Amino acid sequence: MKSQGDFIYEPLRLERIKNALGRSLFAANMVCRDSVDSTNTLAKALAGQGAPEGTVVVAEEQRAGRGRLGRGWVSPPRANLLFSLLLRPPLEPDDVFVLTMVLALAGIDAIETASHLSCSIKWPNDLYLKRKKLAGVLTEFSVRGKSLEHVILGLGLNVHWHPEPGKGIARQATSIFAETGLKTDRGDLLVRILKAFEVSYGHIKEGKREPYHRRWNDRCLVLGKQVVIASSSGEIHGLAKKIDRQGALIVLDRNGTEQRIVSGDVSVQNFHG
Ligand code: BTN
Repeated sequence: MKSQGDFIYEPLRLERIKNALGRSLFAANMVCRDSVDSTNTLAKALAGQGAPEGTVVVAEEQRAGRGRLGRGWVSPPRANLLFSLLLRPPLEPDDVFVLTMVLALAGIDAIETASHLSCSIKWPNDLYLKRKKLAGVLTEFSVRGKSLEHVILGLGLNVHWHPEPGKGIARQATSIFAETGLKTDRGDLLVRILKAFEVSYGHIKEGKREPYHRRWNDRCLVLGKQVVIASSSGEIHGLAKKIDRQGALIVLDRNGTEQRIVSGDVSVQNFHG
């Protein structure tokens, strides 16, 4: 396999990306920065200033990239894809995690087309290749009354970077380059993800959820496995059965009772994810 020293990371070209997106919702308000604290944080600030639905924040580097449950997200400058989408969907707050799943599916399709890698979803928000994490989605939202005011979907996708093999995080993380030895055009990948997501997002807004619901169940790697879910209210042990229409995980616990889990950290027995 080639080493990462064999090429230099090329910068993203905003104008090229916008041209490729054409009349897409996501082409109209795209912000591309060399360095930000976190694309989610900037997207949230823009949302507060009234930025429209479809605003995209892309960065070459994050100084304080964030993951779920207070974790960080590490990515060397220009190596990977780091972006956030600002949406103002006509959905109920309970439906917000459908958008996480749909972005994960758009990522799966784009990665498959660009690099022939077939990923799975590790509920609730990760893309995995076999036993290693390739990408994560951070979903943050604000609610007004009974409606969603805005949703920020942040995606971090390891394209070229992967930590030194055999050390620390490298046991759990991978990248497209680490798997294929090939360089990927990050701008092209971003365009593919945004185009795929735009189509699905349109369907979700029209209430056409079923095909996506089926697909995220098909692609979910925890289903049919014994899992432990750690949440703020303790641990649940059981068999992961399915993901419901709102993106919650249904687990059959040790007492034979179905539990509906809306968030938490899942570990699969005999699988270190
Ligand atoms: C996770 O694995 O818990 C989710 C990771 C999400 C990381 C992305 S990178 C772009 C966006 N900005 C952030 O600060 N986080 C998300």
